[in-house]
Amino acid sequence: MIITIDGPSGVGKGTVGQKLADKLGFHLLDSGALYRLTALAAERQKVDFADEKALAKVARELDVVFEPGDKIKYLLAGEDVSDAIRQEDVGMNASRVGASEQVREALLQLQRNFARAPGLVADGRDMGTTVFPGASLKIFLSATAEERARRRIKQLQAAGQAVDAEQILKDIKIRDKQDRERLISPLKPADDAIEIDTTSMSVQQVLDVVLALV
Ligand code: DC
Repeated sequence: MIITIDGPSGVGKGTVGQKLADKLGFHLLDSGALYRLTALAAERQKVDFADEKALAKVARELDVVFEPGDKIKYLLAGEDVSDAIRQEDVGMNASRVGASEQVREALLQLQRNFARAPGLVADGRDMGTTVFPGASLKIFLSATAEERARRRIKQLQAAGQAVDAEQILKDIKIRDKQDRERLISPLKPADDAIEIDTTSMSVQQVLDVVLALV
């Protein structure tokens, strides 16, 4: 059984996806992490972000190990980059990298390989439209940009990081535009996705709705 959770940056796909996978005893695919890993590897190899062919090569040859645990650990060329890939600039670069058709193609099979019994929860932008079009349940989460920025700020503050609130809202809007307007696999709900506007919902409320649908 495959459950897809798509939606824009900061909407809570990761949190809901993780809790849902835990609850059901399913595997989890955080597809954004793969785009983030590609962006980080490209940056470290000093690849020109305008050079699509070179970016696709980085994606195809991604030397990554996923270490399961309470929170999955990402090892890039042997180094734990789990925190590094969560930085804002890496997210922005991941959004740029994700606009490349060749990169998306390179990552497609890798993502599909995550489908394993008893089931998979896959979160991202195009899980329901492109990667797992035959999924049993497709969820599309939305929330206003302002609410998503507020959640992100809270998260950063809780982690003791400095916060530039205005910049965070700006970045969210830029990424929304990039992810929605790209030609290949843009962010949009699949025709058979169920949309949940989470703007005034708690994580638990969203989870309850999704579990009822499951
Ligand atoms: O979900 P995230 O914030 O970790 O994703 C980072 C970027 O990666 C996102 O802005 C666009 C890209 N991405 C994508 O193009 N397709 C996906 N399925 C997941 C992420």
